[in-house]
Amino acid sequence: MNKIFLNLGKQPLANSFLSSNSKKKQSKEFFYNLKVAFNTKNFLVSVANPVNPKFQYTDKYAHRASESITMKNAFAKTANKLSKKFSPKIVMEIGSNDGVFIKNFDRKKVIAIEPCKNLAKLTKNKYRTYPNFWTKSLAEKIFKKSKKADIIFSANTISHIPDLKQTFEAIELSLSFNGVLVIEDPSLMSVIGNNSYDQFYDEHVYVFSAIAISNVIKKANLRLFDAEKIETHGGSMRYYICKNNAKYRTTNKLKKILKEEKEKKLHHFKTYKDFSKKVKKSKIDLVKIFKRLKKENKKVISYGATYKSSTVFNYCNIGTNYIEYVTDTTINKQGKFTPGKHIPIISPDKGINKSVDYAFLGAWNFKKEILKKEKSFIKQGGRFITHVPSAKIISS
Ligand code: TYD
Repeated sequence: MNKIFLNLGKQPLANSFLSSNSKKKQSKEFFYNLKVAFNTKNFLVSVANPVNPKFQYTDKYAHRASESITMKNAFAKTANKLSKKFSPKIVMEIGSNDGVFIKNFDRKKVIAIEPCKNLAKLTKNKYRTYPNFWTKSLAEKIFKKSKKADIIFSANTISHIPDLKQTFEAIELSLSFNGVLVIEDPSLMSVIGNNSYDQFYDEHVYVFSAIAISNVIKKANLRLFDAEKIETHGGSMRYYICKNNAKYRTTNKLKKILKEEKEKKLHHFKTYKDFSKKVKKSKIDLVKIFKRLKKENKKVISYGATYKSSTVFNYCNIGTNYIEYVTDTTINKQGKFTPGKHIPIISPDKGINKSVDYAFLGAWNFKKEILKKEKSFIKQGGRFITHVPSAKIISS
């Protein structure tokens, strides 16, 4: 049974940046009520009313994984690690984005799945790319012609797909006998620990725990045999999954993670009720900071037009009343307006300068990279605001 524990209010699609903030454009904006639920049977945490993926993963999809040095390096390291560990002959990626992961492999080995047509275009000339959603019929079509996959990799994608049953069944029929599915997604343990409620938005239909994943995949004759904590996206988990009869033994690392999740009571509804109280407090504290800075006539901007910050701004009702503009390095976000709150987005070259007093860390998951990059902003007296793990001005 699904029990709702968190209501993040009226939210737009997190990637629906507006090309103009005209009244006409605003009136066409789609909103839904973002509620988050806990399944008392399999312990899965999910958005209670997911949006149809066809509205989300279009040919205008903005996110480019290669644009962050942190992510680029992380994917290269992972590709290298998986190559060494499993010596795959066929590597398939579900949600290949701009090719940031697959480009670390010999092109003959690679199968890429990417439903956003603008992104699939970027890899299709070099790599076998299917511009489709991941379904059983696509899996059947691909593996009629190809040898089965020794590695199926999917980062920040499986948690975006509402139909997990079909997703894992399609994976099961695509894996070679000892093939391994490696998935990376934000970790529920980190979300609860960091109070990072902004990991919930329309695309993050699920925020997984190892406990929930191991339950959900059982029905598709798959099993979890290893997991590791990784730093990306503010605390993620990498899961290693194989067919029931494959050769892999459950690792001690996984046993430890499952134990830790149980100690943190990720399988108890009360944990989520408590989390929800903390989220409400986070909103009050963050708005207090913005109100005070406004009173003091400070110039406040936001750093990184992230999907996560769309949840924060719409939940906390933070718009141009507090934030002058948002800076983002992504060229196709620049010149647009944030979903729901319509804050203008400009390039960091134009927006980060001496006149700025405070910058809200929309991309708090890149805090280390950003603080390193923005040394001169900090030296000039600029300060960052964050809401993770609690709302505060970061002292440097
Ligand atoms: P991302 O980490 O993908 O977060 P989400 O999934 O919540 O959207 O997005 C990071 C965004 O921040 C991306 O649009 C690029 C931007 N960014 C900057 O503008 N400057 C930076 O230095 C970094 C690291 C990211």
